[in-house]
Amino acid sequence: DESRQLVVAVDGPSGSGKSTISRRVAQALDARYLDTGAMYRAVTYAVLRDGVDLHDPDKITAVAETAVLEIGTDPTGPYIKVDGAGVDREIRGPEVTRAVSAVSAVPAVRAILVAQQRAIIATAPRIVVEGRDIGTVVAPDADLKVYLTASADERARRRSSENAASQAATAADLERRDKLDSTRAADPLRQAEDAVVLDTTALGIDEVVELLQRMLEKVTA
Ligand code: DC
Repeated sequence: DESRQLVVAVDGPSGSGKSTISRRVAQALDARYLDTGAMYRAVTYAVLRDGVDLHDPDKITAVAETAVLEIGTDPTGPYIKVDGAGVDREIRGPEVTRAVSAVSAVPAVRAILVAQQRAIIATAPRIVVEGRDIGTVVAPDADLKVYLTASADERARRRSSENAASQAATAADLERRDKLDSTRAADPLRQAEDAVVLDTTALGIDEVVELLQRMLEKVTA
C-alpha cells in the first residue's frame, strides 16, 4: 500500500553500525534518513558555544529551547545546522563527543528533541530513524524496530578507524558513553521488546542491509 507511511527504527550503542546501515537501508527504500544523535550533538555544540556549565540542566534546557536546528534527511547527504551555521564537522569532534552524554541526559532536552523528531517523521512517507530511544520512545509504532549490537572490541575498532584516536582510547570513551547512555534516568538506551536484535560483529554491511531489506519486504507485504 503506497499511501501507508513506513517508519524503520534503528537503535543500538555507538559503533554498532547504526549510521552506515541506516543510511544504506534508507537509500535502498528511497526513504528519508534521520540521525537523532546528530541533533543531541548539535544542541551540545550550542551549549559549548555559549559557554554553558554542563552541570546546569536549566541553562542547558534554555539553549535547547532557543537553538534553531535544521537537519537534512537525504540519506546520500545528511547535514545539520545550528542557528544557520553548518556544524557537521564540529559535532563529531572530541569536545562535543565528551559532553553529549551530559546534555542528552537532561529530560527537558529530550522532550524538546523528541517533539522535533516526531514532527520530522510525520512529514516523511518513508523514513529510517536511528538513535537510542527510537523504538521505545520516539516511534513506538514503527513498522520495523532493529536493535544493532556488536562486541565492544569490534565497536572500538570501527570507531577508531573513523577518527585519529587510538583504539584503546576509543574503547575507553565508548565504554564511558555507553554506560552513561544506558544508565541515565531519562529514556536510556534500551532494546524495545518487539525489536529484532542483530549482532553485527561478524557481519559485513552488505549482509546486514540485505537482511533488513528482506525483513522489510515481509513487513510491507
Ligand atoms: O549516535 P551518536 O553517537 O551520534 O549519539 C550521540 C549521543 O547522543 C549518544 O552518546 C547518546 C545520545 N543520543 C540519545 O541520547 N538519544 C538518541 N536518540 C540519539 C543519541
